[in-house]
Amino acid sequence: MKKLMAANWKMFKTWEEARQTARELVVAVGSSLPGDREVLLIPPFTALRGVVEMLAGEDGYFLGGQNFYPEVQGAFTGEISPDQLLDAGCTYALVGHSERRHVLGEKDDFLARKVVFGLEKGLKIILCIGEKIEERKEGRIQEVLTRQLEMGLEKTDKDVPAMDLVVAYEPVWAIGTGETAELEDISHAHGFIRSRLKEMLSQGDQVRILYGGSVKPDNCQSIIGLDNVDGVLVGGASLKADSFSQIVLA
Ligand code: PGA
Repeated sequence: MKKLMAANWKMFKTWEEARQTARELVVAVGSSLPGDREVLLIPPFTALRGVVEMLAGEDGYFLGGQNFYPEVQGAFTGEISPDQLLDAGCTYALVGHSERRHVLGEKDDFLARKVVFGLEKGLKIILCIGEKIEERKEGRIQEVLTRQLEMGLEKTDKDVPAMDLVVAYEPVWAIGTGETAELEDISHAHGFIRSRLKEMLSQGDQVRILYGGSVKPDNCQSIIGLDNVDGVLVGGASLKADSFSQIVLA
């Protein structure tokens, strides 16, 4: 199973800035990208085309969208469709990132529609899950993860190919705060997610599970070495080619 090293650029970077970072990253990683790693860049929509040009001919690099709307086309002002993401060069798309859930109010049943629709359209889907700080303090981590997984995958065929689906565990309190979960907590959460995926999906033992939340060059290696951690989803530390290349090669 290849480790997926994903960079979520959120609402940062112009077209030229995104191209430059992508170009610098490819140069910094050079030919040393190990064969068991994949790099995924998830820039803002306006930079997708520009970034894909920078990745042309580079083995192991992929492009992803941060979001999409679960319809083919239509009167959905401000939204983007899976076909439009595919047309721009995307292979992957995020669904249910904590900022979509908690800032933009997206609910589990809507996310379930996105997962199944995106898969049907041919995108590989990264379903993001994770507990809020108060849920953690109340000892409800497993309850929250179970709900987000069960509801998020409710409409998805249990025989979905493992390579089409990725789950990202991102504790909400660790995103953009500099506070990373303890290795033991990451291990527990990923082991729990793995056991649920095995129960829910026929290929649940092979679905990649990423960790996200203040991943940095200095903590990446120990996180990526844990059982059931099949990659990372990185925000802040992915904005500069220098730090993200260290993460990719950790
Ligand atoms: P962060 O963001 O690395 O800045 O904590 C992670 C994410 O939002 O996916």
